[in-house]
Amino acid sequence: MAKIENLKDLYVHELKDAYDFEHQILKALPKMEKKASSQELKAAFKEHLKVTERQVKRLEQVFQDLGQKPTRVSCKGMKGLIEEGEEYMKNGADPDALDAALILAAQRVEHYEMAVYGTLCAYAKALGHENQAAILHETLEEETRTDEELTKLAKSTVNLEALPG
Ligand SMILES: [Fe+2]
Repeated sequence: MAKIENLKDLYVHELKDAYDFEHQILKALPKMEKKASSQELKAAFKEHLKVTERQVKRLEQVFQDLGQKPTRVSCKGMKGLIEEGEEYMKNGADPDALDAALILAAQRVEHYEMAVYGTLCAYAKALGHENQAAILHETLEEETRTDEELTKLAKSTVNLEALPG
């Protein structure tokens, strides 16, 4: 890891980390869509793939605004979260319980992303990059909406069907 000497370094490092985790999510979502049984959940994962593609583009805009080439540094946190989701996919036998597990895995990812984008927004503002803060805020709002939609899905159908009975 490159040396972090100031807030600017930290900001750029975390942008690269976010650029990496969005790519990890792009790879994971089609697998999650395939494994989901609920049509609504499949649709939600499919939609989020499009949203994530836009978020990658937004990060590229931020790098451009900074006069930097977009690069990735491996996000170990996201790797762990995705691996946990994959374990469910390998071991989940009951389709309703697997759907519930996929929602859990996806919400973990969303909360992780919300924490990072919220912080990135604050750093951008502190560094006087208002334009970048606005771009990052758009993504933060999207992640928040996705999380709310997942909560709705969990409450409405999926989790209840996983109850033994
Ligand atoms: Fe994202």
